[in-house]
Order: sequence, then structure tokens, then C-alpha cells
Amino acid sequence: MILNIKTYPDKVLTKKTKPVGEINAEIKKLIDDMVETLYAKRGAGLAANQVGEPKRMAVVDDGQGLLVLINPEITKKKGETVMAEGCLSFPGLQLEIKRPEKIEVEYLDKNGQRKKLKTQDLLARVICHEVDHLDGKTMLDRLPLLKRLRLKRELKRKKRS
Ligand code: CO
Repeated sequence: MILNIKTYPDKVLTKKTKPVGEINAEIKKLIDDMVETLYAKRGAGLAANQVGEPKRMAVVDDGQGLLVLINPEITKKKGETVMAEGCLSFPGLQLEIKRPEKIEVEYLDKNGQRKKLKTQDLLARVICHEVDHLDGKTMLDRLPLLKRLRLKRELKRKKRS
């Protein structure tokens, strides 16, 4: 089932999500639906709160295969790179965002197996973007202050009109 994507400034996007407990049938169904939604919308990543479920899980595919991240935590960050990125919760918006170049992330896969992944470049960027979502942060929170305030005002005005 393709799920509805919440767009900024929906409040579900700015609240920290709750860790996933048991990976039961309900969670597995949500994973399947999130994967279907990710591919249907041609995104590189999708966090559960973007579809209105405040759970600490995300699905990611940077073009090299699907990753399901349950309770992910970034345990190491190295370097810095700036690249334009988009977000399904900000349709049409592309922003230059500074992210770590290399990361290490620990998570559970969809079978509940504990995993550790070292990665870099685009995949590291997408994972950082999704973990930010799960912490209640959006791309805007990674912008310099003045640019962030200006964009927030603009987007809220646009949403009202
Ligand atoms: Co996003």
C-alpha cells in the first residue's frame, strides 16, 4: 500500500520518534508499505514519521539496494561534504546541506539482527538525513540560522495559502 507522505510543517516531522520494540507483523507491514512508497515516489530514503508513524525506523535505497534501518544510531562521523539534497516532505525543494563524509551506523535489520555499517558519500548522506528525521530534525535544521529562519517563514506562508 502506498502511504501518504506528511509535508512540512506537519508536527510529526519535528518530534523525536520512539524506538521500535518487537518486530511484529504490524512493523513488518509498515516496512513493506514504506518500501513500496519509497519506490513509488522515487525517493532515496523514507523515515516512518514521514508517513505519520512516530517510530524509529527508515528505509533507504541510494540506487545500490534496499536497506531497512530499525533503531539506527550513528556511532561515528568523519569529514564534511556539501551537496544538494531533496526530501519527500519538501516537494520541489533542493538545499545545499553539509553532512559527514563517512559514518558508522548501528541498527537492527528487518529480522531483528544487529548490524554495523561503515559507509560514505551518498549512502552516508541519505542515512544521516533519515536519522535526522527520526530525531525530529529536517533539512532546515542543518542550514545556517538566517537562511533557516527565512525558509521556515516562507514554507509556512506557502502552506497556509
Ligand atoms: Co527527508
